Amino acid sequence: MRILSIESSCDETAAAVVEDGTRVLTHSVASSASLQKKYGGVVPEVAARRQVEVIIPVINEVLEPLGESPSSQIDALAVTIGPGLIGSLLVGVETAKALGYVWEKPLVPVNHLVGHIYSAWLAGEAPRLPALALIVSGGHTELILVEGHGVFHKIGQTLDDAAGEAFDKVAQTLGLSYPGGPEVEKLAQEGDPQKIKLPRPMIDSPDFNFSFSGLKTAVLFAMKQAHTGGNFSQFKADLAASFQQAVIDVLVRKTFRAVQEYPVRSVLLTGGVAANKALRKSLERESSRFKGLRFFCPPVNLATDNATYIATAAYFNFDRWVIKARDPRFFSLSADPRLGIPSYTKHG
Ligand code: KG4
Ligand code: ZN
Repeated sequence: MRILSIESSCDETAAAVVEDGTRVLTHSVASSASLQKKYGGVVPEVAARRQVEVIIPVINEVLEPLGESPSSQIDALAVTIGPGLIGSLLVGVETAKALGYVWEKPLVPVNHLVGHIYSAWLAGEAPRLPALALIVSGGHTELILVEGHGVFHKIGQTLDDAAGEAFDKVAQTLGLSYPGGPEVEKLAQEGDPQKIKLPRPMIDSPDFNFSFSGLKTAVLFAMKQAHTGGNFSQFKADLAASFQQAVIDVLVRKTFRAVQEYPVRSVLLTGGVAANKALRKSLERESSRFKGLRFFCPPVNLATDNATYIATAAYFNFDRWVIKARDPRFFSLSADPRLGIPSYTKHG
């Protein structure tokens, strides 16, 4: 089955054609990040306007390799319906509905967070379930129990900033550009992760929640106190490395506390921050200490927002979520900027 997927939840406009869930035939991502650089973050209106400009060229780009009549080679469409920025989401959702209507193809609505989870299927081997997914992105930090396809329970989340957001804000403090995660990672490679003492918020709390805003503020204070002489560029590298280590320590500790509580067979690291090599390595190393536990994460270039895993999620949940081309629900389908994953409560 070939699915054309569309993802437009934030500042990326992406499309992909994926066969049988995991074979990526083509994919393309246009980002307005360079336009957003001067603001140090995403301005929703700037993102939405750019989405409108590039969505058709991006879709055309992924259809082109299919030759003369691309629609005849597509079995279904999939689109991110939330969570995300409403203006951006609507561009993708309405485009997918229009294509589905004209081509008479079924449409699969996909939750962006669930999409991230399925990026772990793109590494070459299907994770065994049940699994524990750590989603770390610019907007979310969540621990999700994946009991089976379509069965997701949130067991913990950040109470303030997301991990990626902390990377982006710390990058700003260090004078690096947006998006900050890859920049902080690069600088951290030159620094000593043990050099500067930083807090590990909530690392010992008995739940599976996170907090990163205090850590971000601690980095800001460390920078303010550091202006007096010395090797400032080395100090910044040490601060980047110490910050990254603090984030990793908290993520690893909480993830494996959850592994001890829930009988899972795989740990999945997903979301944009899953591109971070030090984080990947730490979780992989820790996973190998648990008998029978396997670690999965997407290829680095497919961790940040793109449309491939939206098709993967749609494929593995096709019968569960599909809306037929002439179904009345097709027309009423809309974006939901606050869509989430339901929390797990032990007593229902
Ligand atoms: O999943 P994503 O592309 O978008 C959202 O759904 O939010 O995640 C983007 C986030 C940004 O905060 C970015 O700084 C972070 O992922 N990120 C990284 C790395 N690459 C991207 N954080 C740490 N290390 C990286 N290598
Ligand atoms: Zn994302």
